[in-house]
Amino acid sequence: MEIRFLGQSAFEITEGDTTLLIDPFLTGNPKAVTSAEDHQPDVILLTHGHADHYGDTVEIAKRTRATVVAITELAGEIGAKGVENVLNPNLGGTVTFDWGWVKLVPAWHTAVTADGTPHVAAGLLISIGGKLIYHLGDTALFSDLKLTAQRGTPVDVALVPIGGHYTMDRFDAVTACHFVDADTVIPCHYNTFPLIETDVQAFKSDVQNAGYAQVVVLDPGAMHTVR
Ligand code: NI
Ligand code: MN
Repeated sequence: MEIRFLGQSAFEITEGDTTLLIDPFLTGNPKAVTSAEDHQPDVILLTHGHADHYGDTVEIAKRTRATVVAITELAGEIGAKGVENVLNPNLGGTVTFDWGWVKLVPAWHTAVTADGTPHVAAGLLISIGGKLIYHLGDTALFSDLKLTAQRGTPVDVALVPIGGHYTMDRFDAVTACHFVDADTVIPCHYNTFPLIETDVQAFKSDVQNAGYAQVVVLDPGAMHTVR
């Protein structure tokens, strides 16, 4: 399985014939190395509808007929924009596919779309290829990260925001890595804009010196192979 970082909170996960695209903020992302047209996902997963996550979702879904998974109210807005295949779980809900499942879990963050749809931000637990991937979404540090991550099989890969200001910073993110207890952590949501600049190598050292996880730092466009 390949996990490709696309900048900010966007990732592409490829397992066999299946491609998942998470939070595809490409147009207008100063760190993006791909364009919306470059992607052909089967499923688009959203943590919430802020512009740096919602991104090119509607355009990509209309072009590819990908299924979009988003929390109820956000899913309603996406359906109203003419996207055909939309799944609308709420927190705690799971949607299943022939390749695995996705569960929406809590994240502490505000959320309203540019068009004014209020909703609640989520994290994503993704089971694919026998692995469990936890995208924390945009969130502050909170102790139920532990509850979410330790509710079933262990997390193989956690995608963790570290940039501060709009989410937890790199110091709180170290504690989040302790709570989540994943084998591998890939940091995200940093260095896209000046407000969220941080020292990713210091984060990596802090997590690894504490023995919480292996940290894989990916430049936008780079890929990590999960074995
Ligand atoms: Ni946000
Ligand atoms: Mn964000």
